[in-house]
Amino acid sequence: MPPTSARPPLSSLAPPSASPMARPDFTWGVATASYQIEGAIAEDGRLPSIWDTFSAVPGKVLNGDTGEVACDHYHRWESDVDLIASLGVDAYRLSIAWPRVMNEQGKPNRAGLDFYKRLLDRLESKGLQRFVTLYHWDLPQHLEDRGGWLNRDTAYRFAEYADLMSRELTGQVSAWATLNEPWCSAFLGYGNGHHAPGLVDGRYATQAMHHLLLGHGLALPILQANDPGAKRGIVANIGRGGTDRDTPEDRDAAHLFETQHNAWVLGPLLKGEYPKDLFRLWPGTEPLVLPGDMGIISRPIDYLGINYYFRSNLRSDGAHGFVDVPLDGVERTQMGWEVYPQGLQDLLIGFKAEYARLPPIYITENGMASDDQVANGTVDDTQRIAFLNRHFAAVAGAIEAGVDVRGYFVWSLMDNYEWSFGYERRFGIVHVDYATQQRTPKNSAKALQAFLNARKAG
Ligand code: FCB
Repeated sequence: MPPTSARPPLSSLAPPSASPMARPDFTWGVATASYQIEGAIAEDGRLPSIWDTFSAVPGKVLNGDTGEVACDHYHRWESDVDLIASLGVDAYRLSIAWPRVMNEQGKPNRAGLDFYKRLLDRLESKGLQRFVTLYHWDLPQHLEDRGGWLNRDTAYRFAEYADLMSRELTGQVSAWATLNEPWCSAFLGYGNGHHAPGLVDGRYATQAMHHLLLGHGLALPILQANDPGAKRGIVANIGRGGTDRDTPEDRDAAHLFETQHNAWVLGPLLKGEYPKDLFRLWPGTEPLVLPGDMGIISRPIDYLGINYYFRSNLRSDGAHGFVDVPLDGVERTQMGWEVYPQGLQDLLIGFKAEYARLPPIYITENGMASDDQVANGTVDDTQRIAFLNRHFAAVAGAIEAGVDVRGYFVWSLMDNYEWSFGYERRFGIVHVDYATQQRTPKNSAKALQAFLNARKAG
């Protein structure tokens, strides 16, 4: 007799069966973002965004890829919604392209708005919850021309945009997220220049972060007033910092990494203060904070979205900072990121201890890139299935330890424009052939579908 095992077969995808994640009230979803899938960058009055500008600069994006066509979702949204529904998920996380829906004078662009109204209607008609992010990095270029997130006024313009959207889309949204990953907007956009608008200055990064978070806080009461039936939150990326050296300096390096990645965002949101150690790491970069700002930023939220991907190995740089020293012999993804599910569990449990005001959590992104090919109509993405199973187990472990996690969204529904890595990195559970726009569900999508259908049946 072969040994019996409680573990699911390799090709199946499911959280531990006893976990609340297997229950009907846990929200399962897939996620995308506007610039990464829509294309149609000059259609129906859409204005240029900072990513159109940035991706046109030679050398900024791998292979010179841009979001001009992407997954052509702007034209294929109906069949894409059918695809999402066919997976059996409860929810879809999408973002709205700010430059599509508002003109330079702050007036609505009807054609752009109608696109989202039709999309949200169709999602609702399929029984899908709509998790809508207002800002997933595609800032209108005309605002960047006035300083972008370095200009305090952009926070107020963001609040006007949130006002317009929540008036126009009242009742069509299940959960609003103000910002996706302000860390990336601030640090990659203004600190190291890897993302649009491509500026490089540590003081810019902290000031941009402050204005992003201020915009978030200003938007919250507006969303509440205009659309009281929807949840309101924000999405933060979190990183696990570890060290392979057991010295106080190296442990401090790992702590500083987590301060810079996690506490820089969660501190202001959940404690109303920037972590002091951030300015030990980056002396002299304190942003200009006006009286009242921290109270606005730390207004209560209904949920916190968490995006988790990997762990970094840190060592002290011998001064006041850290260096990233990649570990040998660990499993990595097509991005080169270490596969480390335990990091998600440890961070969630740590946040519960650290933040008395930690709201309910949704894992709004988790997933991995692999160099997937279609062969005989199928895509064998075994590594992704294992990756997801292990991260489901990590979330289940956090829930068991008392963390209130209510949902999990796979990044991503389909392969798409992976920012400065262009189309080469494939994060989808559905494969996209960019020459034909053919969508082919990978084995991970089929496995997820099988689990979700079984859950609904049982
Ligand atoms: C996150 C982004 C998302 C996607 C994944 C891989 O940082 O929010 O758009 O690029 O990484």
